[in-house]
Amino acid sequence: MSRLVVVSNRVAPVKEGKASAGGLAVAILAALRKSGGIWFGWSGEVSDAPSEEVKISRVGRLAYATVDLTPQDHEEYYNGFANSTLWPLFHYRLDLTVFTRQNFSGYRRVNALFARKLAPHIGPDDLVWVHDYHLVPMGEELRRAGFTNRMGFFLHTPLPAPEILTALPEHETLMRGLCAYDLVGFQTDTDLRAFHEYIVLEARGELLDDGLVRAFGRTLRAAVFPIGIDTENVVQQAQIAARSRQTERLRQSLVDRKLIIGVDRLDYSKGIPVRFQAFERLLEEYPANRGRVTMMQIAPPSRADVAEYIEIRQVLETLAGHINGRFAEFDWVPIRYLNKGFNRRTLTGFLRTARIGLVTPLRDGMNLVAKEYVASQDPEAPGVLVLSRFAGAARELDAALIVNPYDIEGVADALQRALEMPLAERKERWEAMMKCVVENDVTAWREAFVGALEAAPFMADEQ
Ligand code: F6P
Repeated sequence: MSRLVVVSNRVAPVKEGKASAGGLAVAILAALRKSGGIWFGWSGEVSDAPSEEVKISRVGRLAYATVDLTPQDHEEYYNGFANSTLWPLFHYRLDLTVFTRQNFSGYRRVNALFARKLAPHIGPDDLVWVHDYHLVPMGEELRRAGFTNRMGFFLHTPLPAPEILTALPEHETLMRGLCAYDLVGFQTDTDLRAFHEYIVLEARGELLDDGLVRAFGRTLRAAVFPIGIDTENVVQQAQIAARSRQTERLRQSLVDRKLIIGVDRLDYSKGIPVRFQAFERLLEEYPANRGRVTMMQIAPPSRADVAEYIEIRQVLETLAGHINGRFAEFDWVPIRYLNKGFNRRTLTGFLRTARIGLVTPLRDGMNLVAKEYVASQDPEAPGVLVLSRFAGAARELDAALIVNPYDIEGVADALQRALEMPLAERKERWEAMMKCVVENDVTAWREAFVGALEAAPFMADEQ
């Protein structure tokens, strides 16, 4: 097997067990821990005078190679084009999308910088696997520098329909960059369809047999590879965490009340306000739940320099304060709202304790918390997953209670149904979901993608 060189903006903390932001780093770490290789990306540090050297640290067969960013690069590339343009655009939030040429040029500059820094570490037979929207042009930069390695790209977020994507003034440059790879992977059929539509309608390209696509003078393969979790590991962690001191403390604090849990980065795409409103509605419509059900939302702050993230934080603080003020009793607070992260093991214990896992993104590439909730359950007394139809995970986890997160009353009704669901039905639904979470785990995902990349013949530029 060829060596794997993985590139992503965010690289997981080198120290195991530390909380890492978002599902991507957790999934890549799980995938790479087994295969070994190099993981290249941003160190998470911003420095006025970043070192020219790439920092390398090794853990077993895995080498972490990271670079710092200057304040300007961090602002224009990370806060700017990645998280104020592509993130909202790819999540269908044109109303929040900021377009500036300066940010786009910062984005290209950092992609070129990453390619230049990584280049000396790439061997002739290495497979290069680039992840997510921050780094679309990276493959093209490496091609420009003469690399003919097999290169793949996986998009963790949704790809929006052309009607949305073409609002980006630089859509053609971006999509040309995407077509510099040999294999492009998406989370769901919807994303692949959006890509195909773009290729045919905008790029005037062609869809060939066997998932091949011809566009921008290249031929590449595009396919769906739904990302999974390290299921075996999560199951083990949850079993251990079931007896941990923190889980016990949580259980005691609930005093026999049922727990509804949400775990998300604090992001407007996650639909957290909807969740609070649906819970409020549940307490209004089904008052027997007052004092008997507690909701816990864990939401570590994310991208805290970006205006929309400051705003969503304020919205949630107001909403949680309003609902708690309205319904709380001297011995019960309806919503526990925590702006902090927990390590994976502690989280699995919390997920296992919850009768309902509430996952209501307005758009989400996959949503690995949904899969982690399923894997953390006690098979003898599993909880119920209430899942947005707009999460990629809903394609696989169709035995969840699927909801439309824009329909607050509908989500409240689903919560009530979940609270009342008999054990036999809970088990039946859980078993169906668990089967899929076991079969399509992160190893299956890595093997499917890497296998397809190895099989993708390098097709030189045709122009
Ligand atoms: O999974 C989507 C994603 O944007 C990843 O690319 C990213 O690493 C993660 O969410 C967390 O976001 P951030 O790296 O901006 O903290």
